Amino acid sequence: MPQPLWQKSGSKVDAKIMRFLAGDDVLLDREFFLHDIAASKAHVEGLANIGVVSTDEATALKRELDALAADFTNGTFVLDDHFEDGHSAIEARLTERLGETGRKVHAGRSRNDQVLVATRLWLKEKLVALATHCKAAARVCLDRAANETLPMPGYTHLQRAVVSSTSMWFAGFVEGFIDDAQRALDTLAWIDANPLGTAAGYGVNLKLDRGHTTRALGFARMQVAATYAQLSRGKYEMAVLEAIGSALLDVRRLAWDLSLFTTAEFGFVNLPAEYTTGSSIMPNKRNPDVVELLRASYASVAAARTEIEQLLSLPSGYQRDLQISKGGIFHGVHRGLIALELVPDLLARMQWNAAAMRAAIELAMYATDVAIEQAAAGVPFRDAYHAAAKAAQSAGQGRTPEHSLAARVSPGAHADLCLDELRARLDSLDQ
Ligand code: ARG
Repeated sequence: MPQPLWQKSGSKVDAKIMRFLAGDDVLLDREFFLHDIAASKAHVEGLANIGVVSTDEATALKRELDALAADFTNGTFVLDDHFEDGHSAIEARLTERLGETGRKVHAGRSRNDQVLVATRLWLKEKLVALATHCKAAARVCLDRAANETLPMPGYTHLQRAVVSSTSMWFAGFVEGFIDDAQRALDTLAWIDANPLGTAAGYGVNLKLDRGHTTRALGFARMQVAATYAQLSRGKYEMAVLEAIGSALLDVRRLAWDLSLFTTAEFGFVNLPAEYTTGSSIMPNKRNPDVVELLRASYASVAAARTEIEQLLSLPSGYQRDLQISKGGIFHGVHRGLIALELVPDLLARMQWNAAAMRAAIELAMYATDVAIEQAAAGVPFRDAYHAAAKAAQSAGQGRTPEHSLAARVSPGAHADLCLDELRARLDSLDQ
């Protein structure tokens, strides 16, 4: 490893302690490295604007930053534990290539705001991906709710309750994924603030051009208080994990339904073959492993959020504890997004088994319809309820699922799904 940036004469670096300090940090920094480089370019421009580096120096620095990004992308430059972290690697490379000019890059910044800005750019990208996946899932659910209607049992407590439909099942997830997409975008707006230029957390005695770096990096606003930038580390990461978690809560319940519905006992759903696997010992098996891993993915997101929450028991200012948050967000965000990415296609291609669903609708499931019809005709509801309870089986004689569904006119129920309202809200998220 080259000398750490902070190495002073007279002190020795112990290898074991160094490993502990760096942990897997330098490897995680690979994930944020291109963002760190992009932020470094904006920082250099800002320094040129206030005359701390000359225009020629800025041009050379930016050229070398671009070259570093290209080498990193094509594998010529490897970010590994030769370096303490990605930030040091950038300065080391610029110094190696440009000598004294390279040694100017860190004027007015600290690794503390450097890691914040790189992470924040990365988080913003992930929220855009989150919104995209949620909108795609909502769109598929909307199309299926609108284009195909099959009666199915509606359950409460996992007991057969009332007649429902595949449209109602899908409509619930339409609105869920719209909420999740909205939350992704709201969270994006919430964290869209530039921390670069706050340095170690207390500003610097230079008139940094923070307006320029904010615009150049595409942030909606500057994170104003130098002291807030460090206070927001971890807090913003948690918000992103909560946004992903919100979508995965919906995915978890959906996946639960599918894992039940694909059992022989239910037999309501057939999954596309690619979404199932076989058993290594039981030749007869087709297992819904993908659905199970979708269900499990929430755990990783929630665990990452909890890890960061635990870390944040800290006084104000930068504390090295915060470094651990990078592992959490990387792991949690990654698991969450690769799961969500699969959901639209799975939902588009799963198939309902109309006969099995119809066979699971029993006469007693019309009892609520019967009681409410009586109530509509003037019988006090509780009396109608008791009468229908007594004759639950026979009350349903002669009724059909279609009739029950056609009469379900309360807004948001089968006969008035208000899908146009949901479609308008989904469309508005693209504006
Ligand atoms: N790896 C560090 C982190 O993620 C970078 C910042 C180091 N700052 C420092 N003052 N030691 O937090």
